[in-house]
Amino acid sequence: MRKKVTLITGASGEIGDALIRQLLAEGNTNLVSLDIRPLAPEIANQITHIQGDICDKSLLARIISEYEVDIIYHLAALLSTRAEFTPEAAHKVNVEGTLGLLQMASDQSQWRGKPVMFVFPSSIAIYGIPDLDTKAKYPRIREWEWNYPRTMYGSNKLYCEMLGIYYSEYFRQLAADRPVMLDFRSVRFPGLISAYTVPSGGTSDYGPEMLHAAAKGEPYACFVREDSRIPFMAMPDALKALTKLAAAPRSALSRRVYIVTSFSLSAAEFRQIVLKYFPDAKITFAPDSKRNDIVDSWPADLNDNDARRDWGWMPDYDVDRSFEEYLVPNIKMRYQTKLYY
Ligand code: SER
Repeated sequence: MRKKVTLITGASGEIGDALIRQLLAEGNTNLVSLDIRPLAPEIANQITHIQGDICDKSLLARIISEYEVDIIYHLAALLSTRAEFTPEAAHKVNVEGTLGLLQMASDQSQWRGKPVMFVFPSSIAIYGIPDLDTKAKYPRIREWEWNYPRTMYGSNKLYCEMLGIYYSEYFRQLAADRPVMLDFRSVRFPGLISAYTVPSGGTSDYGPEMLHAAAKGEPYACFVREDSRIPFMAMPDALKALTKLAAAPRSALSRRVYIVTSFSLSAAEFRQIVLKYFPDAKITFAPDSKRNDIVDSWPADLNDNDARRDWGWMPDYDVDRSFEEYLVPNIKMRYQTKLYY
């Protein structure tokens, strides 16, 4: 018998690293991780890690031959700024990588006669609002509004949401007997902020970068204007959203893709909060108009009513609690003890 496992891709990334730590802390021992990079040393010996490329079909086949994959948290992706420099490479990882995993999960669902749960983080980058006037007119956007991404990453995420729905609902729709299909569930995240890691290659990174620079005592020049506004969420809430959606009964869900969010801040407000905790921080604004255009096309805030209604979503950390109880104390500890990873 193959061992039943939870597979986590993008395991060395921001969300992956945090999710693995949480699942381990909850006593979960049946974890297999996949990433092109090694795991952080503190968790490396607690979980079976496969170092390799998500696009390597033979690697996925090997995983399936060894394990019964029950849940997949598919977190591997190239983020929005990085993807603009290498769009085709981003498409390969973000779309082809996801398609390969969906196919694998689809086969596995048929084999065992039970849906594989496929949990997928999507993003505010799937939105594309044409201009700032329109952004002001639509301050809290719903799932189906303004689905016109401007970036390769946003396009990839939106298409992968659709592929996930396809493999869950319509795969082999013309066949005489329909196979057991996978169970795709996705959350669209706002900008995420972790106390332990700084994201790399994203466009919402100015928030976390500002905070981490302040904690390290380094000056920071913010790459968007002071009035640029998007929603954010602290990492523990991102983990809560992924695991809570995975645990929800299928019958409660009226959608497969849900917005989740916590608080909305302009870059100037973000700076003010950072200054409250790090009064000596040197934070200036040096907008990069191209990256700013991307942020301007993202919503100022999101309406996550459907997630709240269907599966009881509610962030634990509003803006005050995020900084006061999670971000600031942990970041201070991290840089004081020089435990960088
Ligand atoms: N944080 C991501 C990025 O900036 C958006 O999902 O690319």
